[in-house]
Amino acid sequence: MSRSLLVLNGPNLNLLGTRQPQVYGSATLRDVEAMCRAKGTSLGIDIDFRQSNHEGVLVDWIHEARGRHAGLVINAGAYTHTSVALMDAITSVELPVAEVHLSNIHKREEFRHRSFISKVAVGMICGFGPIGYCLGIEALADHLGWRA
Ligand code: DQA
Repeated sequence: MSRSLLVLNGPNLNLLGTRQPQVYGSATLRDVEAMCRAKGTSLGIDIDFRQSNHEGVLVDWIHEARGRHAGLVINAGAYTHTSVALMDAITSVELPVAEVHLSNIHKREEFRHRSFISKVAVGMICGFGPIGYCLGIEALADHLGWRA
């Protein structure tokens, strides 16, 4: 398997930079993508970076990741707290997942404390803003036994 990771973003993350900057910061999704690509380049990892507002599209992309990518970094946005479909898709493809959130979901409303993704992820990083994506990439690379 080539050194390739899929970085998936769920609903409303296309609005980063203008969406509740007091919660999610001022970086845009393009900024986050640039950080992920720089981290990938430094570790010799190909990064496929995507965003969709549609649950089924995210499910399709997770299915397609099998055989193409060695693992997934995912910020599923609000689907984190609701989507059995995304959880089942991850279980089905048997790829390691690093779950990422910009905000600390455990400091926020009660309904954000539950994550269906956490149940099938290797681990979760939240509360550190966009750097969390880079930490997720590094953590997955280590999990996969990839040396820099
Ligand atoms: C989020 C947290 C979710 O609760 C929220 O619905 C999002 C973003 C985060 O990155 O902090 O859309 O996943």
